[in-house]
Order: sequence, then C-alpha cells, then structure tokens
Amino acid sequence: MEMTTIIVVGAQWGDEGKGKVVDLLAEKADMVVRFAGGANAGHTLVTGGTKLVTHLIPSGVLHKGTACVLGDGMVVDPFTLIEEIDDCKKLGLLAQGELLIGDGAHVVMPYHKWIETAREQGSHKIGTTGRGIGPAYEAKAARKGIRVADLRSRKLVEELVERNLAEILPLLTHYGQEVPAPSAVTKMVDDLMVAADKLLPFVGAAGPAVATAIEAQKNVLLEGAQGALLDLDHGTYPYVTSSSTIAPGACQSLGLGPTRIDKVVGITKAYCTRVGEGPFPTEMKEDVAAGWREAGGEYGATTGRPRRCGWLDVPALRLAARINGLSSLALTKLDVLSGRGSIKVCTSYKVNGSETLELPQNLEALRNATPVFREFQGWSESITDARKLEDLPSAARSYISELETLIDVPLDFISVGPERTETLSLGTSFA
Ligand code: GDP
Ligand code: IMO
Ligand code: MG
Repeated sequence: MEMTTIIVVGAQWGDEGKGKVVDLLAEKADMVVRFAGGANAGHTLVTGGTKLVTHLIPSGVLHKGTACVLGDGMVVDPFTLIEEIDDCKKLGLLAQGELLIGDGAHVVMPYHKWIETAREQGSHKIGTTGRGIGPAYEAKAARKGIRVADLRSRKLVEELVERNLAEILPLLTHYGQEVPAPSAVTKMVDDLMVAADKLLPFVGAAGPAVATAIEAQKNVLLEGAQGALLDLDHGTYPYVTSSSTIAPGACQSLGLGPTRIDKVVGITKAYCTRVGEGPFPTEMKEDVAAGWREAGGEYGATTGRPRRCGWLDVPALRLAARINGLSSLALTKLDVLSGRGSIKVCTSYKVNGSETLELPQNLEALRNATPVFREFQGWSESITDARKLEDLPSAARSYISELETLIDVPLDFISVGPERTETLSLGTSFA
C-alpha cells in the first residue's frame, strides 16, 4: 500500500520510541502533524550521532521541506515552543512556511503548573510531568481556556487570565501555596504577549491545511504523544494523562473524519516501561528492573525520572490494538534483550479466577489481575547491526514470530538501536 495518511501511536504507557519511528517514516511524508498532549512528551531523534529531543514540535522536523503542524487538540506552552523553534532554527531546520500552529490549540499558562504542583504534593498524586497539562485541559473543558488564536488580543487574554485566576487563587490558598502579587500577574501577561508576537506568524487553521494536503494526495503522518494506556478515556484511569492519545484523537484534534485514515501504526518496545504512579501488573522487582533500566537507558526524556520497567504485556497490546484499530506494529528496542537471559512475556491475566486475554481497564480488576507469563529463550549476541530478519539469531526470530501470533497484529518494522539506520523493515507500509 502506498503511504498516504497514517496515524502513528504509542501502544503502551509512552516512551515506546515514537520519535525514532516518526523520524524514519517522515522521510516519505509531506506533512507531519502532532495531535495531542503538550510538553509532557519527550521524543528522542538520533541521526548520524546527533540527538534532538522534541517536546512540542513534530518528530518529522529533521526532514527539510516537511511541513510540521501542531493540531488543535494540543496544549501548547508558548515558552517551551519558542525555545524549541530557536533550537531547530540553529540546526537549519524549520524553514519559512514549514511550521503551522493550530489556532484552536490551548495555551498552557504558568498558573496551570502552579496548581498541578500543589495537587501533586497531596496524597492523590498521579506522578505527572509537572508541565501543566491536566489543568490546561481542565480549563478547555470548562470553556474558559486561552486558545492560541486569543493571543491576538491582549484585552481578551487579560479578561481570561482574570476569570481563571478568580478560581485558581483561592485553590492555591487552599493547598497552602503562596498567591502571586498583582504585579506578578501583569508581568505574566506582558511575558505572554512578547511570546505571542514571536508565535503568531506561525499560527493558522491546522484542520483545513491537513484536509487540503490529504485531498492533494500528499503523504500525511499524524503523530501521537504518550501511549494508549495513558489515554484519558481508555487508559488506566485515573493514572493517565488528560488527552486522547489514541488514533481517534488524531481525527478529533484535526477535525478529520475517520474515513480519511489509511493506516494506523502502533509502536511497542520489546519490554515495557511506565513513568509515574498507577498499576503496572508486569512490573519487574527493582533488583531485576535496575539492569533493564541501564541496558535500555530508561530515564525520562522530559523529566529525567527513572522509568519503571516490566515484562512485555501482550494483553495490554491487544487492548491497544482494539482501541486504536492498529493495522500494524513497530517493535522497538529489541537490541536491549541481547544478553539479558530468558525473556518473560505476559500472555493473559487471571482476574478473580477467570482468564482474560485483554488488559482489564477497570482499576479494581487491574489491581486484582495476576499476569500469566510464558518464558522465551533469550540470546547473547548483539543485534544492532542486523538489517534483515535473517541477520537475527534464531531465538530472536522465533520470539518475534510468536509475538506476532499472540498480539494478532502484523509486525512490519523492528528497531535494533536508537539511530535512524538501526532498523529492519519487514512489511510494505514503510516501503
Ligand atoms: P518516545 O517518547 O516514544 O519518542 O520515546 P523516548 O524518546 O522518550 O524514549 C525512547 C528511547 O529509546 C530514546 O532514548 C531513543 O533514542 C531510544 N530508542 C528508540 N528505539 C530504540 C531501539 O531500537 N534500541 C535502543 N537501544 N534504543 C532505542
Ligand atoms: P511521551 O510522548 C511517558 C505520564 C506521566 C504521568 C501521567 C500524567 O514521551 O511518550 P501528565 O504530565 O501528562 O499530566 O502526566 O502520564 N506521561 C508520560 N509517560 N511518556 C510520556 O510522553 C508521558 N506523558 C505523560 O508520567 O504518569
Ligand atoms: Mg518520551
């Protein structure tokens, strides 16, 4: 199948290697669109030994001539975005006309971070990234958020800031936090308007731009952040992020009907990680996890936090396959399995005596779920130089083929290292 309109999403709890896969696919893309979340994301792109971590700008940015679009479903921190634009410009990227910020995206304000920080000090901590994501989406749902388009009017921004602070300041006092002086609020608006001057030249209608590109049969790649299990509606609620991270979220963000999508690619590591609080039934004991964390470099690209490590969770991938409608999977970090001994994979769960093939979504059931593991033979040799299936040791080949059968989604891409080139392409979608 010719590449046309593809959605790429994380199939686990984030950090699956979306940055690497999107960077690779973006070579053929005319337009790469980030559709959800904000600067909570950290996507690592490695090419020719150079590393770039993106938080807001789509991971297709390294390809000159590719349009980068930020969808309306995003929440944008203007200061982080300006820093990222500057970094990209220093690298000679993002030429004139290559960046479009959706005017319906919402602005993350400093007070969103204040309130998040205050809440996270309480007993109902989620382990968030501290980037103001939850409160920014709350303001959007409460219909009092500041949208990127609103930055055109200082008067409107001032009115909205006042309305929001009228609710947030008493809440800060409730949490025992200091409230800002009126002069600090004026400075907040001043700083925002300076940032607005820099960003407004890139602001426009994202949905129509994407629709026009699709109509003109351009290759459009819609890039998710976070992962399926962090989705607000279908993830491990309440230990989730506050956006729609799954494929339908791409349609929602860009005002794109589902019939416009040709293919949905899910990304999974060959094992599992999670950052922050919440259930993680295949989590390894810390003495085992420590070795995997070092081997896989499992530290947050945004916060630097050590990631929790666990065995591959096939029932969670089956859930991800269903809620995303996955047409294929990309398997990353297979190289991390080299030399780690035999490999455990969770194939089903026992919940209150009955077996289930899909990860339970209900928190109570999840807490009572016991993973059923199957053990696979490992391999000791390095596989980073492998470029086709035949280059892999037979234990790795049978692991892959068993996974494909268990998950019941075709694998068409395997990653054996962080570099763009450290990749095996198996299927047709990446041809
Ligand atoms: P994302 O948020 O899904 O884009 O993933 P992150 O960038 O947060 O984390 C993935 C990490 O794994 C990054 O450091 C990547 O450079 C690295 N990575 C991606 N694919 C591979 C791979 O196949 N092997 C190894 N060893 N590292 C990889
Ligand atoms: P990428 O795109 C991993 C997690 C946080 C926390 C929960 C809610 O790099 O895969 P939030 O700040 O969004 O309100 O935090 O979601 N989380 C991520 N975990 N990768 C991410 O992004 C994440 N973005 C949010 O750790 O548990
Ligand atoms: Mg990440």
